[in-house]
Amino acid sequence: MQRKLAAITGVQGYLPEYVLTNQELETMVDTTDEWILSRTGIKTRHILKDDGLAASDLGVEAVKGLLEKTNTKVEEIELLICATVTGDRVFPDTANTICDKIGAKNAFGFDINAACSGFLYALTTGSKFIETGTYKKVVIVGVDVMSSIIDYTDRATCVIFGDGCGAVMLEPNEEGLGLQDSILRADGNGRHYLHMKAGGSLKPPSIESVQAKEHFVYQDGRPVFKAAVKGMTNAIKDLMEKNKLQTEDIAWLVPHQANKRIIDSVADFCNFPTERVMVNIQKYGNTTSGTIPLCLWDWEKQLKKGDNVILTAFGGGFTWGATYLKWAY
Ligand code: UT7
Repeated sequence: MQRKLAAITGVQGYLPEYVLTNQELETMVDTTDEWILSRTGIKTRHILKDDGLAASDLGVEAVKGLLEKTNTKVEEIELLICATVTGDRVFPDTANTICDKIGAKNAFGFDINAACSGFLYALTTGSKFIETGTYKKVVIVGVDVMSSIIDYTDRATCVIFGDGCGAVMLEPNEEGLGLQDSILRADGNGRHYLHMKAGGSLKPPSIESVQAKEHFVYQDGRPVFKAAVKGMTNAIKDLMEKNKLQTEDIAWLVPHQANKRIIDSVADFCNFPTERVMVNIQKYGNTTSGTIPLCLWDWEKQLKKGDNVILTAFGGGFTWGATYLKWAY
């Protein structure tokens, strides 16, 4: 008998309306469209401008669209996992706020904080509840409102990040389609290179911490760049070797969208032709937990049932990994 697998049966994205262009950034910090485009590949990013709205509101819009698309009643959702580093509040979690706002009364939920690898961590975690037969409808949300933790006077970070959300439905599949395997990794020593200095138990918020701008993203770009290329390349290679896959067996590579140069290097080291690598960083920038589901959403019409797809991510923590799945519809 075929093993029960967790298959993605629908994907939906949501982006806030406001578009922040490189030209507008040129008026805010000492940068140029040329520098941003050549160093990162980004042209525009979406920013949540509405006061009073937060990560959960982007999640609500994406999940509502997902339910409609997959003909799912909200009461059928049993579990909702939300990957985010910019949840509505430090606590409680954003997953349960989304469930409350959409009326998912039969679901429980929790957040996963693995920065840019959050969606992969959440997808792999959620798939286990399907594979074991525990649940039949699991929603995975990847959402970040990076603009809420970005210093728009720091040119090294403000040009990179954007806000956005993607959500997928996971359901059981007994035809061999769905998530086949994942390799997830972490190295806590990476925390020194990418973090927020204050706001946690190490350094609770204070007037001094706000004045010192310690509630924004701090990133030492170069070591993160190198670790990202190495981490994603090794995770993809290990996953392909473990599953006896050759490059020609893979229909699509879906990399986390942190920097076009990182994506190109990873694709190059893994011998992936660029036409089979999903890239939408030019439109959305780095939306952290949102990048991978937003790629799947943009490419949904081109994906075919049975396509072998590899997802890969690298982020703060450090966290990284790769997931191999067979597209199910
Ligand atoms: O998503 C999770 C993980 N994050 C990542 O994967 C990001 C990894 N890192 C990167 O993508 C790149 O390191 C950055 C895009 C952040 C920076 O690019 P870089 O090519 O590594 O630049 P750099 O930090 O080495 O800086 C080179 C120069 C510096 O000037 P000097 O010291 O050489 O005079 C920076 O001050 O570029 C300068 N610079 C800028 N210039 C114009 C930095 N940001 C800007 C800017 N506009 N926005």
